[in-house]
Amino acid sequence: MSRIVFLNGSFLPIDEAKVPFMDRGFLFGDGVYEGIGVLDGRLIDNEAHLERLERSLAEVRILNPYTRTEWTALEEEIVRRNGMTEGFIYFQVTRGVAERDFFFPDNAKPTVAMFTQAKSIAHAPAARAGIAVITVPDQRWARRDIKSINLLAQVLAKQAAKEAGAQEAWMVEDGFVTEGGSSSAFIVTKKGSIVVRPLSNAILPGITRMSLLRLSEEVGIALEERQFTVEEAYDAAEAFLTSASNFVLPVVSIDGRPVADGKPGPITKRLRELYLTMASAPALAAE
Ligand code: PDD
Repeated sequence: MSRIVFLNGSFLPIDEAKVPFMDRGFLFGDGVYEGIGVLDGRLIDNEAHLERLERSLAEVRILNPYTRTEWTALEEEIVRRNGMTEGFIYFQVTRGVAERDFFFPDNAKPTVAMFTQAKSIAHAPAARAGIAVITVPDQRWARRDIKSINLLAQVLAKQAAKEAGAQEAWMVEDGFVTEGGSSSAFIVTKKGSIVVRPLSNAILPGITRMSLLRLSEEVGIALEERQFTVEEAYDAAEAFLTSASNFVLPVVSIDGRPVADGKPGPITKRLRELYLTMASAPALAAE
């Protein structure tokens, strides 16, 4: 079966999907995106992702081309057409096609592109073994709360992680961890509280982060919503990350130092199980 993508109103084979040379996404990185996890053919936390998309678009003043119902129908259709039961849906909206000029074009129509990536999330080997992260300086712009398609700093950070034998980069500003290159960063203190940076313009408001905080509150795990330093992370009882494409992943080493005994910790494992249960039975979890 050939891979089917969505571009500007049509589902078509990926080889036939072409974006014009003068698209502002290509020339300026002038656009925003979303990424949604799929488990058992279901879209996980879809409403919250669409809400964040609306916010990102409004912040950069690109018109949202679809309603939530229309977005959801497109997502469900692309999952169906690709026969995907588990993985990731990516979509982006750019300001459209116009002669290169920094000012907003008068009549450009937003470009909408969507594709799927089949991927094992629930039984990913990284979830059992945990992953290594390295810390790098956070070199991004001042509006990281917008899910912009400008990802050059994250590309460089994650490539540095790969070259160091790690799977994610934790970005650091003024001594404090902001977040991962494509994930939210958490530690667990020796007293068993989870620590995560509060929302601000310095980080993306992670949707998985938000769901996880709700789940941890429901089961009575203590939360400290505050910044944490690299040294605190080195000394933590556990560490983990969250994202739509991985849910909850244990972090077992930071800059080559094992986190505690270097194995996924019990609170991390529990939170991952809670998240998977919620994702497998969203109707029950919402009650
Ligand atoms: N990244 N922080 C950053 C910088 C991210 O890029 C992401 C997601 C997250 C986690 O957000 P969420 O839980 O809503 O996925 C945090 C996606 C998965 C990506 O770029 O592939």
